[in-house]
Amino acid sequence: MNTKILAVGNLSTEEATYAQAVHLLETGEVVAFPTETVYGLGAVATNEQAVAKIFEAKGRPQDNPLIVHIGSNEEIHEFISDIPKIAQECMDAFWPGPLTLILPLKPGILANNVSAGLNTVGVRMPNHPVALKLLRQLKQPVAAPSANRSGKPSPTKANHVLHDLNGRIPSIIDGGVTGMGLESTVLDCTIEIPTILRPGGITKEMLEQVIGPVNEAKLTDRAEAPRAPGMKYAHYAPNAPVFLIDASLNSIRKAIESIHREQKKAALIATEQFQLPEADYYFTLGNDGQIDEAAHLLYQALRSCDDTDADIVLVPVFPKTGVGAAIMNRLEKAANGKWYLGND
Ligand code: TXA
Ligand code: MG
Repeated sequence: MNTKILAVGNLSTEEATYAQAVHLLETGEVVAFPTETVYGLGAVATNEQAVAKIFEAKGRPQDNPLIVHIGSNEEIHEFISDIPKIAQECMDAFWPGPLTLILPLKPGILANNVSAGLNTVGVRMPNHPVALKLLRQLKQPVAAPSANRSGKPSPTKANHVLHDLNGRIPSIIDGGVTGMGLESTVLDCTIEIPTILRPGGITKEMLEQVIGPVNEAKLTDRAEAPRAPGMKYAHYAPNAPVFLIDASLNSIRKAIESIHREQKKAALIATEQFQLPEADYYFTLGNDGQIDEAAHLLYQALRSCDDTDADIVLVPVFPKTGVGAAIMNRLEKAANGKWYLGND
């Protein structure tokens, strides 16, 4: 299969792009498209065979459920049995936007493989003009995980999707670089105290202002956490092992010296204040204190490591407040919890 890139942003040709993408989806194909978080790989959520193609193209484990994307609030009632009050408040406050709500699923409407057999499903309305236009023209819910090969960092550019899925999917709508750069916050609204299963752009602090106390699922819950199936899989990892490190120039310098003593090469992913000439490769996370910029650049930086011969990737940690919680959640997974402690 030849993967085609479909352009938007040019008024004379973009209607044809949407018509083509809608046609592909209606006829049971998958289409990659930009959202405000990362690129998604979509299929009509009621079509089991089409959804199966998503798992196939990504190499995704079957027991990891997908997020359903909608273009208008009315669509939700077709497949959600009951919308708790706090979920409605979240929808009013944050949709369209980077917030996925886990809600009780009406049986028999969506394809079974969307929810991996659970009686709940994640739903969101993306805040991106291309995604919204596509969904509103299609007028059907679209199941879409991030459009990367399973285990790799999510794509923030059409080229990342092409790199991972070239020849595996028919087309990618190229809407340029995504905004936020990290996946949506996933909030479980089916339990007594709403719980963040995956931190993202809508932070705990923002949620609590609207709905009151919110819990956070800990990464360590993952083995026993059937509610958040995706938590147990390796994620966001470049080929070289990633190590977290203290956010201090001294620690980073010592680590690089120790890596060099072992005749190995180090890639450093960090904000500008930690850029060290000793690092064999450096990928920026923007200026210090601009946490949104760090989120925006993180996946590109992790992917860039695969274009180098670095043996080890070092990433100084961020404070876990606001969007920092989402960044650290992805980094802890990318590093599989490893810290660089060195030999001395
Ligand atoms: O920003 C995003 O959310 C992107 C864009 C494309 O919308 N999508 C995305 O999908 O990140 P994915 O499949 O990569 O991540 C979905 C996450 C997984 O961790 C999955 O386990 C969790 O949501 N999830 C989905 N349905 C769930 C459910 N019913 N209960 C618990 N967790 C669920
Ligand atoms: Mg993903």
